Amino acid sequence: MPELAIILPTLNERDNLAPLIDRIAAALGDIAWEAIIVDDDSTDGTADEARRLARADPRIRILHRIGRQGLASAAIEGMCATAAPYVALMDADHQHDPAMLPHMLDRVRSGQADIAVGSRFMDGAAADGLANQDRLAASGWANRIARRITGMDLTDPMSGFFVMETDRLRVLAPKLSGIGFKLLLDILAASSTLKVAELPLTFGERRSGQSKLDRVIAFEFLTGLYDRFFGQIIPTRFALFGTVGAVGVVVHMSVLALLFRLLGSDFLWASIGATFAAMSFNFWLNNALTYRDQRLIGFASMAKGWLGFCVTCSIGAFANVAAATVLEARGVYWLLAALVGIIIGAVWNYALSSRFVWGR
Ligand code: GDD
Ligand code: MN
Repeated sequence: MPELAIILPTLNERDNLAPLIDRIAAALGDIAWEAIIVDDDSTDGTADEARRLARADPRIRILHRIGRQGLASAAIEGMCATAAPYVALMDADHQHDPAMLPHMLDRVRSGQADIAVGSRFMDGAAADGLANQDRLAASGWANRIARRITGMDLTDPMSGFFVMETDRLRVLAPKLSGIGFKLLLDILAASSTLKVAELPLTFGERRSGQSKLDRVIAFEFLTGLYDRFFGQIIPTRFALFGTVGAVGVVVHMSVLALLFRLLGSDFLWASIGATFAAMSFNFWLNNALTYRDQRLIGFASMAKGWLGFCVTCSIGAFANVAAATVLEARGVYWLLAALVGIIIGAVWNYALSSRFVWGR
């Protein structure tokens, strides 16, 4: 029976896996462990590599998910998929040192802490692997807000490296958002009584491949705050989608004005141009923000996504106009009719594009 399950979320980490498993095995020595690789359908053959490793070593398991569903949800799913009493979350790119695992496990097993966290920013830690100064500054800023949210004085509440009791995580899991990558922060916010121990971590350089997380930490925080306070009323993604849509209206009007008023094209063509500009803009912004954690990467999947988005939006626009026209004809005040049409169109676009464009 494994004592510790190590959850390794992966997205294109093929070449990092085998050497990482060797390091984990060497670091854990007598401690019975299993590794659960949670792959989001990587395009570089990570899942095949994981299956190959699993055939050679029964301590290795794989959860192969279809489509990119994001780091936090991969971590939660992996942590819920083990019978081991303790669970560790760790990056698969060698930035986290497996040699720390026995010490982290000790802290939790001995009851000194409910959760042992590898910190990149406490005294004795080194964050060489952090890409640049910007990111360091951003992290410091984010940490201060995190302190406000959790009421805990931690140096690295965004760490992706921690050990805790599996049962405890399972109890908290329904309260976690699963969006983005600030999972530890979510866990701490969900339970203010957790005793945390931070251990200094040397955050190394990634061994192979590149980072999947972009650095909009401020944005991540804003959505996190929204999610916590209003997420139950209007779902976070829908609120983001709607906000992006509102910005899209401004784009539409600007392009329309440019083509129609300044360049003198006729209204039909100007409207078509403005519609395409707004749809493309909305697709891009939704991909970058609303669906950051499962965004489409690369030209081919972006192009396919854009096409799907345009088709979805066209149907949505039709529903919008149809509803508004019917209501207006029945004597509903024109502004109200238009508003109802917009809401129907937005809900439609949201439901369809989140299912068919970003694959949920
Ligand atoms: N399954 C899955 N799905 N895994 C993912 C996804 C995803 O959508 N996105 C990233 N990963 C995996 C990567 O393959 C890697 O093993 C780990 O999650 C961390 O991703 P990186 O892309 O290496 O993140 P980073 O090094 O830039 O970010 C570090 O700092 C963050 C906070 O600032 C990591 O330590 C994160 O864990 C941490 O939250
Ligand atoms: Mn990394």
